[in-house]
Amino acid sequence: MSQDAAKKAAAEAALKYVEPGEILGVGTGSTVNYFIDALAKMKHDIPGAASSSEASSARLKAVGIPVLDLNSVGSLSIYVDGADEANHQLQLIKGGGAALTREKIVAAASRKFICIADESKLVKVLGKFPLPVEVIPMARSYVARELVKLGGMPSWRENVITDNGNVILDVAGLSITDAVKLETEIGLIAGVVTVGLFARRPADVLLLGSPAGVRELKAA
Ligand code: 5RP
Repeated sequence: MSQDAAKKAAAEAALKYVEPGEILGVGTGSTVNYFIDALAKMKHDIPGAASSSEASSARLKAVGIPVLDLNSVGSLSIYVDGADEANHQLQLIKGGGAALTREKIVAAASRKFICIADESKLVKVLGKFPLPVEVIPMARSYVARELVKLGGMPSWRENVITDNGNVILDVAGLSITDAVKLETEIGLIAGVVTVGLFARRPADVLLLGSPAGVRELKAA
């Protein structure tokens, strides 16, 4: 089974969590694109979706699912999104697609977070995937120096501007054994908009696609 087939299987498995009549949150990325395609088949059962990126909004609209403003919808039933890495506590690294800020907002506004991924994303210790940090442009060098003090090796993701007009630093060299602490520490650096660690609010369910089928991990 290819990695794409594993992503598609995980995405389709998330459909069982969609609550008819309820607005849901939709993340960003290639795995989520498979989810949007699958969700299109039940578009008449849902009023619409709140989206975490301009790219996902465009795809939702293209398949006929209304995109709703998060400010007008209250709390969401579920949030479905991918990840760059996940550990067994269902803490995540996200932001490979530069959508981490809106992803964190929509996840926070949702009652249940369903993470969909292929099995290669499951790791013992987070940090092999460089940790994305969204930064206000004028703070880029300052934040990079602070990230070095925390033991990381930041690099500027050149030619990428987020949907919010900011830049991304990707921080390599971290072995993240206390993800909640690091999420807090990086979040407190002046100029940081969002750190791509989802540990204070981890996923509730992790659906991992593999040749053996879709494995479901739940928060303890
Ligand atoms: C985007 C993300 C994505 O969820 C993450 O990069 C995984 O992407 P993919 O499903 O393409 O592997 O965080 O900001």
